[in-house]
Amino acid sequence: MATVLVLNGPNLARLGSREPDVYGAASLADLEKECAATAAELGLTIVCRQTDDEAQLVACVHEAADHRLPIVLNPAAFTHYSYALRDALAMRTAPLVEVHISNPAAREAFRHTSVVAGVADGTIAGFGFDSYRLALRAIAGLLADDA
Ligand code: DQA
Repeated sequence: MATVLVLNGPNLARLGSREPDVYGAASLADLEKECAATAAELGLTIVCRQTDDEAQLVACVHEAADHRLPIVLNPAAFTHYSYALRDALAMRTAPLVEVHISNPAAREAFRHTSVVAGVADGTIAGFGFDSYRLALRAIAGLLADDA
């Protein structure tokens, strides 16, 4: 059974209380539960990590590369400016799908740039927690293509 890393960046531990009009009322724990259920349907196992720290996020990406782990990544605000994260992701050795709960393209101008998108297999944004479920499906498809 393949293992997928579900990585969430800064401020996403505050889901549920953080701008619920944008991100919804459910918590990070709820999100991780939903991801685990979807993963089980797809025959995948997930490992979930959240950090507010850029260095820790980069370290998680290095570890995933070392173990050939696919990643579903919500880089949160790092999406828009972290070249360190982008460079780490460029070393990936397995599928990578960028996800967003909201649709950054429909929000403030600074959110319209993703420095991560160019090194990902694809980006899914704007579907709430379903963005993650769709990303897990995309990863399952990519892994099946590679098998
Ligand atoms: C986000 C969108 C980003 O612009 C923002 O900084 C986040 C969350 C999303 O999931 O919609 O923290 O990645």
